[in-house]
Amino acid sequence: MRDSHLHLAAAEGLARLKWEWEEERTHYPDLLGFGTADMDYMCPGPMLDALSEVIEKGHLGYPMVRDEFYDAIHDHLLSVAGWDIDARTSVAQNVGIYTSAWNIIETLTKPGDRITILTPVHMCFRSLIRLNDRVAIECPLVYSNGKYSVDYQNLEACLASGSRIFWLCNPHNPIGHAWKRDELERMAELCIRHDVVIMSDDVYSGLLFPATAYTPIASLDRQVSERTITMYSTSKSYNSTGLRHSFIVAENPELMKLYTDSLQRLQLAYGKNILGMTATIAAYRKCGAWLDELNAQIKKNHDYLSKYFHENMPGAAVVPSDSTYFAWCDMRALGIPPRQLSYLIECEEHMIVENGAELGKGGNGFIRINLATSEKNLREGASRLRHFWNKHSEGGCL
Ligand SMILES: Cc1ncc(COP(=O)(O)O)c(C=O)c1O
Repeated sequence: MRDSHLHLAAAEGLARLKWEWEEERTHYPDLLGFGTADMDYMCPGPMLDALSEVIEKGHLGYPMVRDEFYDAIHDHLLSVAGWDIDARTSVAQNVGIYTSAWNIIETLTKPGDRITILTPVHMCFRSLIRLNDRVAIECPLVYSNGKYSVDYQNLEACLASGSRIFWLCNPHNPIGHAWKRDELERMAELCIRHDVVIMSDDVYSGLLFPATAYTPIASLDRQVSERTITMYSTSKSYNSTGLRHSFIVAENPELMKLYTDSLQRLQLAYGKNILGMTATIAAYRKCGAWLDELNAQIKKNHDYLSKYFHENMPGAAVVPSDSTYFAWCDMRALGIPPRQLSYLIECEEHMIVENGAELGKGGNGFIRINLATSEKNLREGASRLRHFWNKHSEGGCL
C-alpha cells in the first residue's frame, strides 16, 4: 500500500499534453505549463493499487458492471451531498464528460436549438454547441467587488428565448465557484418556469477548498431532479483524465431512456471501461484522505498567488475562489488586446496559461492558471508574471 501523501509524478518517460506536448510545440526548454486541466501530482496511491491489481490479473476484456460500482457512487453522493439516488437505475457510463454532453444534446435537441450557458466558461461548452449546429446563448456572469454572481433577470431572458437546455458547470470552471443552494434554487426555478432541461457538469465537484459545500442541483428536490442530468468523472479530482471514463446521474427514467438510446446509436452502451470503473470505486471508497490533502494544497497555492498579485502587481488581482484548481486572474488593467494576452505571456515568459478571451463573454483580459503543480513551479510562474506585468505597465498600458 502506498502512502496517501501528495507526490509529483516523475516526468521522465511521460508524454503529457500539459508539459511534453507544449515543450515540443514551443521548443522552450524552460517552459512552464499552467494550461491543460491536469494535475502534476501522482494519482492517489489507493487508486493506483486498485488499477495495478486489475492489470496484474492480466485480463482487460469487456467487464460486467458489478454492484460495488453502483454502491460506491451511491454512498459517495450520499456522504458528500446528502443525495440518496437509486444508482442501479439512475447511473449510466460514458467515455468522457463531453461525450456525455454530446449524447444529451444529440438526444434532447435538434440543429438550431438553443442552449444557455453562464460565461466565462470552459471553451468546449461553446465549441461543442456550435460544432453540433446548436446555438449557444451566453449569459455573462456579473463580476463586481471581487465576486461573481448570476444576473437572474438576464438568465430568465436567455432561458425564455427558446432554450432547450441550461448547461451548468458546478463548481464553475474557470471562476472556481461551487454554486450555493440559494443560487441553484433560483436557477432551477427559472428552468422549471421555462421548461428547460438542466445538464450539470459536476466534474470538479471533488475539488473543494476546506469548508466549502457541494450541492448538486438535482439534489435540491425531486422536481428539479426530474429535469436534470448530472455528469461526473473521477478525472479532474483524482487526476485520471487519461482513463477517458465518466458517468451520468439521471433520476427521471424518461431522460435516462433518451440518454441510453443515444449511447446505443454510438455503440457506447455495450462494453465498459474496466479501469475507469475500478478507479471510480477506489476514489470514492479509499481516497478521501488524499483528496483532503490535495484540496488543502490547492487552497494554499491559491492563497500564495493571490497574495503575490496583491503585493507585487498593483492593478491585477486573483479572483477569490472556493473550488477547482484554477486561479482566475484579472489582467485587464494592462489593456493588452485580449486575444494576444496568453500569446504574449507564452512568447515572452515561456509560460502556458489559458486565455480568458476564449471562454466567452466576460473573459476578456483574464487568464486562467492551473494551480495543481509544485510550489516551486508556482513561485517561478508568479515571478514571470510579475516580470510581464512590470514590462507592459512600463510600456504605458497602465
Ligand atoms: C468543465 C469541464 N468539463 C469537462 C472537461 C473535459 O472532460 P472530458 O475529458 O471527460 O470530456 C473539462 C476539461 O478541462 C472541463 O473543464
